[in-house]
Amino acid sequence: MSVNVDIGINADDYSRLVHFVKSCYGIDLENKQFIVQSRLANYLADSGFSNFSEYLDAVMDDRSGREAANLINRLTTNHTYFMRESEHFDHFRQVFLPQAEKSVNDHDLRIWSAGCSFGNEPYNLAMCLDEYFGLSRRQWDLKILATDISFNALRQAQRGVYTSKALEKLPEEWVSRYFDMTSHGLYQVKDRIRSNVVFKYHNLMEEINFKKKFDLILCRNVMIYFDDLTKSQLCKRFYEATEEGGYLYIGHAESAPADMPYIKQQPAVYRKITEVSGK
Ligand SMILES: C[S@@+](CC[C@H](N)C(=O)[O-])C[C@H]1O[C@@H](n2cnc3c(N)ncnc32)[C@H](O)[C@@H]1O
Repeated sequence: MSVNVDIGINADDYSRLVHFVKSCYGIDLENKQFIVQSRLANYLADSGFSNFSEYLDAVMDDRSGREAANLINRLTTNHTYFMRESEHFDHFRQVFLPQAEKSVNDHDLRIWSAGCSFGNEPYNLAMCLDEYFGLSRRQWDLKILATDISFNALRQAQRGVYTSKALEKLPEEWVSRYFDMTSHGLYQVKDRIRSNVVFKYHNLMEEINFKKKFDLILCRNVMIYFDDLTKSQLCKRFYEATEEGGYLYIGHAESAPADMPYIKQQPAVYRKITEVSGK
């Protein structure tokens, strides 16, 4: 028997969805009805919901959170690539690392890629660290924390497998140094680099409860989906979680909130400076 799926979303249901996604995940879906509709149509048809209202009730009533996670997997934009916004990698190697090498006395460098998508960003940082520290990397704890709300993106990130196209902007010698070719002609990040990145689920709408403060937080091309209030609250939480003298990188296309607590150093690079410090 064929099920007649009505994916047409009425105004009430769409505003229920917008409110739910914004309050739980910060993502603003106002005026995105066409995209939402096209991303959910096949799923609704395949999973037997007879209309959008029924589906939305299921998302909101599912206490396991599985249906909501599935919705987020479908709605988030995970676009990313290696060496994205290369100015950040220049700053990382030329400014951040030389400063950190001098100031991080316990040799425990704390870096967080918040909204890491498929892992290109944290792996890219791990490669920079490997190159920068060379043999002395053994004297350092260089583990990078990488978080996202998309389980689908996190799963792929953990595998660390990419097409040759995704590697286009990386220096050629890095491709041979940091990737193994798979039997399917794809490229997998080498174990020793993968083991330097710890992937975790974290919703940026929630409290930040990691054990230590960070020397660098990257939250690039994530806040673009958030409204001003959400951005402002998130930047305050990041600030609290940043070491004195530490940095925040945001996407170059993103605007900082009006009450940004960090001090701007250059486009899309911010620093926590609250006291006169020699760092
Ligand atoms: C466009 S990607 C950016 C990836 C990478 N930072 C870059 O610049 O290439 C945005 C990522 O933010 C994640 N994201 C969106 N809302 C989030 C939230 N509330 N908490 C954590 N991650 C979120 C999405 O799942 C997606 O993987």
